[in-house]
Amino acid sequence: MQKNTVIVGSQFGDEGKGKIVDFLAQQSDMVVRFQGGNNAGHTLWVNGKKTILHLIPSGVLHKNTINIIASGVVVDPIALIEEIGSLADHGVEVTTNNLVISPTCHVITKFHILQDAKEENSRGANQIGTTKRGIGPVNVDRVARRGLRLIDLLDIDVLRSKLPTELQAASEFGIYNKEYHQYVDALYAAGSFLQGYFGDTSYIVDSKAKKDGNILFEGAQSGLLDVDHGTYPYVTSANCVAGFASVGCGISPQYLSNIIGVVKAYTTRVGAGPFPTLIGGQLEERIRSKGNEYGATTGRPRKIGWLDCVALRYSARINGFNSLAITRLDTLAGLEEVKVCVAYKINDIIYHEMPVDRLCASINIEPIYEKISGWKDFTNIKSINELPAEVLTYLNFISRQVECPISIISVGAERSDTIKCPS
Ligand code: IMP
Ligand code: MG
Repeated sequence: MQKNTVIVGSQFGDEGKGKIVDFLAQQSDMVVRFQGGNNAGHTLWVNGKKTILHLIPSGVLHKNTINIIASGVVVDPIALIEEIGSLADHGVEVTTNNLVISPTCHVITKFHILQDAKEENSRGANQIGTTKRGIGPVNVDRVARRGLRLIDLLDIDVLRSKLPTELQAASEFGIYNKEYHQYVDALYAAGSFLQGYFGDTSYIVDSKAKKDGNILFEGAQSGLLDVDHGTYPYVTSANCVAGFASVGCGISPQYLSNIIGVVKAYTTRVGAGPFPTLIGGQLEERIRSKGNEYGATTGRPRKIGWLDCVALRYSARINGFNSLAITRLDTLAGLEEVKVCVAYKINDIIYHEMPVDRLCASINIEPIYEKISGWKDFTNIKSINELPAEVLTYLNFISRQVECPISIISVGAERSDTIKCPS
């Protein structure tokens, strides 16, 4: 039996998880999304063609791969149907043969999206910088045990009973009669459309895990955005750590035998919250424009910082990485030197481990850096031995700092720019 692999982000999202999943899916016939929603944005480049995925798992470009949206994912049914449609427009068929959705996924409605925006506005200067996809509010309803699930869309009375009433909608969100009824009808129609994709995802994943394995579990967001272990309150409203793959699917943790942490060669963050290694100024702008570092979901410019090994060590702990996949080594090329944060200084005290109790936005964290020689731009690298020596030094440095081997590197946006490292 082959190992099942969980692929999760080790920083603040956008490390290139989708790309690594798409690469590994060449040899895997099942990819499972287990948490998050369409706040995620996974960009794939294959033969010069760009695909951005939000809810559909990153195995979808492979003909024989089954993609699973497990019950831990929160689903905006209208956005999901749009995504299926837009993939079809680009020649990628998403059918009941290659997508199975859990009917127990919680549903994001328009009211959650409006509530998300309303809460952000009321936070004033303390905004989280959410993606405004309704992720916080849908999870509030979920844990308050009043949530709407996909299965509920099939019964118009249950559906109505779980939405705000017309009056509430009108007073809270300015949605009046006609619009309200049109939206209820649209949700009902979405449920009827998605019904064909429904399946017992826990049973399907468990059966395959028992039989031949080789499942890829695709994380979204990342450990540092985890609602319990991230930089709270500047986090998403879900658990994103690897262990949640078992909870989000309804399978045993014993099947999660291999965990890969995806690490961008530098750090990026969209939204607010602590960011000790922020670069700032022209250098930050240069890396942002070279790497086209703008959110795949919201288009917001991503903040750019140096690699932060204090954060990475913490991420390795809360996720339990067996190996790392280092992405964007090409984006970091062309610099005289690169810096890596190896410790934090807070009020004259040095921290080598993440000071989780001190991590609020207002605290002044001084990163302690080590400098490493930069490397020149490179193209068409097909094996690790062809990399500039400075890149190898950088990789070895990261591996030592995080005490974790590197199994994959990415040296460009294309699927073919991904290299497996000898173990
Ligand atoms: P929410 O998940 O939309 O509530 O946003 C909460 C925080 O997580 C914000 O800082 C977002 O920018 C961030 N976030 C959510 N999803 C992603 C993602 O897929 N990539 C990067 N950041 C994300
Ligand atoms: Mg992304």
